[in-house]
Amino acid sequence: MKIASISAEEIRDSRGNPTLYVTVSCEDGTKGSFAVPSGASTGATEAVELRDESASGGHVLTAIRHIATEVNDALRGMEVAEQGKIDAALIALDGTERKSRLGGNSTIGVSGAVCRAAAASSGIELYEYLRSLADIPPSNRIAPFLYMNLINGGMHASTRLAFQEYLIVPQTESPQEALSMGVEALRRVEEHVTNRHQGAWAIGDEGGVALDVEDTEIPLRILSEVRDSLKNQGSFEIALDIAASSFWSDGSYRIGEHTLSSEELGAKIAEYAATYDLFSIEDPFEEQDFEAFAGLQAALPDTRIVGDDLTTTNAWRLQKAIDKRSIRAVIIKPNQIGTISETLETMGLARKHGIDCIVSHRSGETMDTFIADLAFAFGTLGIKVGAPRTKERMAKIERLIEIASADTEAG
Ligand code: PGA
Ligand code: ZN
Repeated sequence: MKIASISAEEIRDSRGNPTLYVTVSCEDGTKGSFAVPSGASTGATEAVELRDESASGGHVLTAIRHIATEVNDALRGMEVAEQGKIDAALIALDGTERKSRLGGNSTIGVSGAVCRAAAASSGIELYEYLRSLADIPPSNRIAPFLYMNLINGGMHASTRLAFQEYLIVPQTESPQEALSMGVEALRRVEEHVTNRHQGAWAIGDEGGVALDVEDTEIPLRILSEVRDSLKNQGSFEIALDIAASSFWSDGSYRIGEHTLSSEELGAKIAEYAATYDLFSIEDPFEEQDFEAFAGLQAALPDTRIVGDDLTTTNAWRLQKAIDKRSIRAVIIKPNQIGTISETLETMGLARKHGIDCIVSHRSGETMDTFIADLAFAFGTLGIKVGAPRTKERMAKIERLIEIASADTEAG
């Protein structure tokens, strides 16, 4: 089925910022859309998000114009099922290393909408279509673990807490059970913070509690107490996204009043890993320090060190991380790289080398649920969905529940 037209409009993300909603229409009338998310603690090597310079409020009107004119002209008449060719055409049309001319937000919007339109025109679910696009060995998981970010710090909250995310990972492959556990755990975290730390607290960008403490261990203690209190309702593990680039400057890490060397930060994290039996630790060091990641991974062979800003869903950065043994798991965010084909390539490379994939939302989210299908399609280890609270986060969880139960019924 051929592409008839591509258009885009401006919508608002969960932070209230403008973002793109792209629609691809096929000649048979089927359509596919994609609503683009946006990061706050973005990696330096991510695809560039194109925002209007002149307008206040970071509008995306230039990106909309690019899509309606040159992208529409270039892709109209192409076979919607030829995802690889379409993405290659987008990359060539952009012509820059980090998609800065068209904008990575434009390219992922178009690429994702093409993918959805192709699935719709062949009458299959998105996750089924994604499986047909990529030769990624199947895993035997029923559904990915939900990574739920219950305590928000770093650039996702206006507090003193330097580490960005304190997450729970319910140890069940039933997303429904994981959701129930997440809702109950969030309630207990809120109760704990209200009674013992702050009577009033704000909600962070990903829906968790914005805890205003400087001590990076306090949130771990809270999650650990909550874990103990919920023991008879199921088990969850604790994970961290340190997002260390956000508090690194001039060769050291600033945590409140303290300035830490890479070795000192590593020692602190290793102690946390042992005390709280951490399931995974994302971006423990700044995004160019492949060696420090490797040192910590070697010191903590039983814990997954995870690359996010380190790897930015980029196959050659992942290859470098594999060569240097920096990580055991990688974050997959389609908008970090800017096309679906490149996202699948990075996931394929990870699988080939036994690196676990954790598909992730962004801190600025939309109602789009593409990542739920992506994680489910390839049975990834996990999917990061924030706290089970706001509608943009709940949409992904609900989609995962829907497809996991439909797929189980279909056998
Ligand atoms: P971002 O953060 O979406 O603000 O970049 C998410 C993360 O670091 O995992
Ligand atoms: Zn991260």
